[in-house]
Amino acid sequence: MKLLFYAAKIYDRKSFDPLLEKYKDVEIDYIDHELEPITAALAKGYDAVCAFVSADVGAKTLEVLKENGVNIVLMRCAGFNNVDVEKAKELGIIVKRVPGYSPESVAELAMALALAANRRLYKAYNKVRENDYSLKGLRGVNFYEKTAGIVGTGKIGAAMCRICRGFGMRVIAYDVYENPDLKDFVEYVSLDELLAQSDLISLHCPLLDSTYHMINLENIKKMKDGVILVNTSRGALVDTNELIEGIRMKKFLGIGLDVYEEETGNVYEDRSDDIMEHSVTARLLAFPNVIITSHQGFYTMEALASIAETTLYNLMEAKEGRKDGNDVA
Ligand code: NAI
Repeated sequence: MKLLFYAAKIYDRKSFDPLLEKYKDVEIDYIDHELEPITAALAKGYDAVCAFVSADVGAKTLEVLKENGVNIVLMRCAGFNNVDVEKAKELGIIVKRVPGYSPESVAELAMALALAANRRLYKAYNKVRENDYSLKGLRGVNFYEKTAGIVGTGKIGAAMCRICRGFGMRVIAYDVYENPDLKDFVEYVSLDELLAQSDLISLHCPLLDSTYHMINLENIKKMKDGVILVNTSRGALVDTNELIEGIRMKKFLGIGLDVYEEETGNVYEDRSDDIMEHSVTARLLAFPNVIITSHQGFYTMEALASIAETTLYNLMEAKEGRKDGNDVA
């Protein structure tokens, strides 16, 4: 089986190559290019392609893959909002993903962002390096006995619920389905109640039509003053321009984002020498109570190992035409 691996980084090779001992029939070629319509033709002669969160797996890309004889797309991530699922089904292309490779890797980053935003760790770090030992701008709040509101209580949201409970927080949640594993300590409420009661709001639902811009000005106004908002799920859950309005209204004690609307094109690139033509992200970063990381929720040793193992397992299952819970299309 020949697999073309798009947008490959060193850490991808380090987690996938050792597994080729086990998957002896698999041959992987790694390329830097992102999977998109113009690069899809590079997959001619391959059985499958492997792509990540910033790939464009829309209708055009899928058509080019099909024209070039590629019938398997392996997403090495959990989210698949960048895949045109209906088009893949229409073309008979199998798309598999890696759901729940290490929910704790993302949930622990969500809590790290909440703490960093609350206690302004990014400012504190720089201040001490500059011999500035004053505490100006660093005052936070205790999480103990405060209310955590978790939106989406699937695998990652559930892990975040457990972490918040460990901090001695009251945990409330909103989801379209209740997770029975959490019934002992999580109280399900409506989204409006969650927004009104939470001191910390953490987003863990997928990006769908129904969740697009769920954090908008109307919903921000329903939040408590001094709330902390964390998004480690997908950037477009939050309307960035309206978030900026909310920040200017002094709604937030802190904001931690591992994902943001403009991230495609930035993610995993060093753009430190680029002059950005227009960027709402830069406007966000100008606020003292915002910390942004570049989609690194998955980036732990455990998560990378699990992604590699499941992706190659998915390749074998796809080859045999077997369907399972990892199928997107
Ligand atoms: P999951 O599928 O286990 O859980 C998602 C939950 O969201 C489900 O319980 C579902 O019922 C709920 N949900 C669906 N529609 C909803 C709505 N309208 N309102 C509220 N809840 C809703 O997914 P998992 O593994 O927990 O991942 C969650 C998201 O995290 C992924 O969709 C992905 O976008 C993101 N993610 C981010 C990573 C990062 O590196 N920052 C890494 C992995 C995932």
